[in-house]
Amino acid sequence: MRALLIILLLCGIVIPERRYRFTNIKCNVLDKSYVSFAQCKLKVIGRGIIALTIDAKLLTGPFNNAKVNLSLWKKYSEFRPFIFNSSLDFCKAMACTNSTLTFHRIIYRAFLKYSNINQTCPYDKELYVRDWVLKEEQLKYLPLPTGEYQVRLKAYTDNECKATVYVNFSVKEDLMQS
Ligand SMILES: *[C@@H]1O[C@H](CO)[C@@H](O)[C@H](O)[C@H]1NC(C)=O
Ligand SMILES: *[C@@H]1O[C@H](CO)[C@@H](O)[C@H](O)[C@H]1NC(C)=O
Ligand SMILES: *[C@@H]1O[C@H](CO)[C@@H](O)[C@H](O)[C@H]1NC(C)=O
Ligand SMILES: *[C@@H]1O[C@H](CO)[C@@H](O)[C@H](O)[C@H]1NC(C)=O
Ligand SMILES: *[C@@H]1O[C@H](CO)[C@@H](O)[C@H](O)[C@H]1NC(C)=O
Repeated sequence: MRALLIILLLCGIVIPERRYRFTNIKCNVLDKSYVSFAQCKLKVIGRGIIALTIDAKLLTGPFNNAKVNLSLWKKYSEFRPFIFNSSLDFCKAMACTNSTLTFHRIIYRAFLKYSNINQTCPYDKELYVRDWVLKEEQLKYLPLPTGEYQVRLKAYTDNECKATVYVNFSVKEDLMQS
């Protein structure tokens, strides 16, 4: 069975399925006057199906300047930076919907459907991502090898870091469909 799979794989008949799964989340507020997290959690909604919910209340707003740093880390014996490390002007990026496919944009498109972060600045009151389930097709431009990863998001306004969100997820390549 295994030999057959390998042959099919080499011939390009079977394409390994990648399973992406959230494994941990941690939201951290550095400036309590600015933001609070009403929710920051993972929830099991089916066998091996994990949904992510983040609900951030903006306490002083509306805001028109925000920077977001996003980096990807892969776990070896410890987490190490992995390929992506970038910073962007959030408000400008939201206004320009046709820009090239960057790491930010891949992540943004992946959760867009589950979020109210689909408008341009200014932002007011609340930002949320609800019941986001990671799926292979969302990350098809980011074919990561098997492993444990962490995305670190740092949100800045006025060049001060106000909050961080760390999300761990795992990637498994799987030949057997189930
Ligand atoms: C990302 O790049 C910045 C500036 O180039 C650097 O200071 C920082 O240490 C880098 N972070 C990672 C995770 O590589
Ligand atoms: C993250 O953002 C801060 C503040 O905007 C900036 O100083 C820093 O260089 C950024 N890091 C990266 C990796 O771009
Ligand atoms: C992308 O957007 C910019 C400005 O937002 C515009 O100048 C440019 O023509 C657009 N490119 C395409 C291919 O639509
Ligand atoms: C943003 O998402 C909300 C909720 O899903 C939806 O009602 C709204 O029409 C969307 N707005 C835009 C500009 O896509
Ligand atoms: C997940 O993230 C936390 C920090 O947010 C880290 O301490 C932990 O080791 C990570 N777990 C795995 C399995 O990578």
